[in-house]
Amino acid sequence: MKTLVANWKMELGVRESVALARGVLRGLRGVKEVPNVYVAPSHTALTDVAKVLGRSRVMLAAQDMHREAQGAYTGFVSAKQLKEVGAQAVILGHSERRAYAGETDADIGCKLALACEHHLDPIICVGEPSAVREAGEAAGYVSEQLQTILAAADMPKRQRLMIAYEPLWAIGTGVTPTIHDVREVHLLIRSRLKDAGMERARVLYGGSVNAQNIYEFINDDDVDGVLVGGASVRLNSLRELINVVSEIG
Ligand code: PGA
Repeated sequence: MKTLVANWKMELGVRESVALARGVLRGLRGVKEVPNVYVAPSHTALTDVAKVLGRSRVMLAAQDMHREAQGAYTGFVSAKQLKEVGAQAVILGHSERRAYAGETDADIGCKLALACEHHLDPIICVGEPSAVREAGEAAGYVSEQLQTILAAADMPKRQRLMIAYEPLWAIGTGVTPTIHDVREVHLLIRSRLKDAGMERARVLYGGSVNAQNIYEFINDDDVDGVLVGGASVRLNSLRELINVVSEIG
């Protein structure tokens, strides 16, 4: 089964998130082969969305967490607190966190260790800026990011782990890499994962995925799923995305 992560970023309030989650569940009624769907609302909506999802097969992800377990960190949210409100997964190292909150691979490594400790499925984002892509060094850059992050965490071998390859220049721009480019980077990601004994991890693609182009990515054997931002915050579009993922199985 392929995976779809819907990252709602800072786009929706609590009521809108609840309505969207309800719409997703309605769309899945009667679907036998439900793909692995994660929805990631803002922190403020986690509790209410968790209630809507209940014991359904749709899973709840948070968009970030702090690198420390507990303490005097005003305004931050910990892994334990996320678990407490029903999150099952957490996105770590999204490029917007790296750009606007100055997160480094070392920070993300600390977060990864804590996520594992609290039984949250980590969805780790990696990806190169356009200058690196133009220099032909994308795969090496991403592989190094991943190596640094994985080195910081001693993960249990049975840990469910997702790596989302999200080229920075593809996020929210409408521009996507070719499937050939995605495959090249995914291959190197898988080899790093193998070195770390985590070959069962799922490797996703993210960046300007929409209902028109999702098939090309999701239908590829080297792509285990997709992480979608903009196209996941409206019900019609999100349902279309889920339908394509369900059809592929
Ligand atoms: P996008 O965002 O689908 O809007 O490009 C993807 C992401 O930021 O994860």
